[in-house]
Amino acid sequence: MAGIYIHIPFCTKACHYCDFHFSTSLKIKDELILAMVKEVNFRKNYIGLEKVNTIYFGGGTPSILNKKDLAFILNSIYNNFNISKNVEVTIEINPNDLTSKKINDYADLNINRFSVGVQSFCDEQLIKLNRSHNSNDIIKCINLIKDAGFTNFSIDLMYGLPEMSIRLWKETLEKAIKLNPTHLSCYCLTIEKKTVFHKMFLDGSLKIGSDDILKSQFLLMRKILISENFMHYEISNFAKPSYQSRHNSSYWSGDKYLGIGPSAHSYNGTIRSWNIKNNIKYIKSFDNEKYDFYKEELLTDKNKINEYILMGLRTSKGVSKKKIFAMLSEREQLNINRQIANFERLNLLLFKDNRYFLSEEGMILCDKITSDLFLV
Ligand SMILES: C[S@@+](CC[C@H](N)C(=O)[O-])C[C@H]1O[C@@H](n2cnc3c(N)ncnc32)[C@H](O)[C@@H]1O
Ligand code: SF4
Repeated sequence: MAGIYIHIPFCTKACHYCDFHFSTSLKIKDELILAMVKEVNFRKNYIGLEKVNTIYFGGGTPSILNKKDLAFILNSIYNNFNISKNVEVTIEINPNDLTSKKINDYADLNINRFSVGVQSFCDEQLIKLNRSHNSNDIIKCINLIKDAGFTNFSIDLMYGLPEMSIRLWKETLEKAIKLNPTHLSCYCLTIEKKTVFHKMFLDGSLKIGSDDILKSQFLLMRKILISENFMHYEISNFAKPSYQSRHNSSYWSGDKYLGIGPSAHSYNGTIRSWNIKNNIKYIKSFDNEKYDFYKEELLTDKNKINEYILMGLRTSKGVSKKKIFAMLSEREQLNINRQIANFERLNLLLFKDNRYFLSEEGMILCDKITSDLFLV
């Protein structure tokens, strides 16, 4: 099974923490959509004949698009790829964008899953983040989704926010649970270079939580969500049984996926490619049929093992010992064995049914553990 990701590089407002690729000017929206449809046609053989079981509109802010734009892109995908009958089609929604007309449009287009960018229910926090919505917009948005008969929706939240107390995080999680989502993505704030938060962090005006606070917020999130029957299936993702995001899961399992639009990444089993992060240059490369909108890298065996460990250890499934060792030389096996034994002694890595996976303590140190296991 394979996936298709469509990156919509527009937002109405720049959030102070975000370094995803987007523009706040929609002047060239129509040209960009046309270029994306050209990309779909140009790359129709990218994933071979494999069946597509997930289509994901991410961003940026895909809920900015109208029905005509979405239908144009979707039709080009349906005309060029082998789409599974029960394909999961997700769209990311910013809460202030949704109207009753839009949700009906989504239903007409067979979009069947929604990922709502809530981030926080606290208006003070939402202002600090420079979000385009307030807490009332969130409730209205979720009600519109439910009133239209949809139950499969996910909520994005952030923790580790400036001056966020444990109590506020607990209230945030409780409010999210009350809305009855099937899935939750909870991201720890990362201070990304070139963002407003980065500038504020450097000049000392942004106070972020200590490692101890972040750890407490992570552990609290796990405790609350697991007790509500959410499976913690990846470091930042929780799902009710059988509601894991197919888009995320296929990415972490190393399935093939095609990414359409500026900055989108793709993987066809051997080659990884990434599209240019510039809307105008992206459009132009289709104008003159130069097709220089992407760069690519052939993955070496070492790259493949590193990616497998990096992504696999983030998930509750972990990584297969057999698979890793089959890919390594004798010397590499000895080295990795020593590292693994050390992490097992520290109770950071666990071993069950021939698979390694992170303990709760290990999840908190996930980045350090995976980088120590990296083959160089
Ligand atoms: C690329 S955004 C797109 C979703 C949508 N545009 C929105 O903002 O609601 C996906 C998610 O990444 C998370 N995110 C973005 N920047 C982040 C950062 N610097 N640290 C932690 N999470 C971040 C947010 O939770 C956001 O909802
Ligand atoms: S977080 Fe979402 S809405 Fe905010 S700038 Fe990033 S992509 Fe746009």
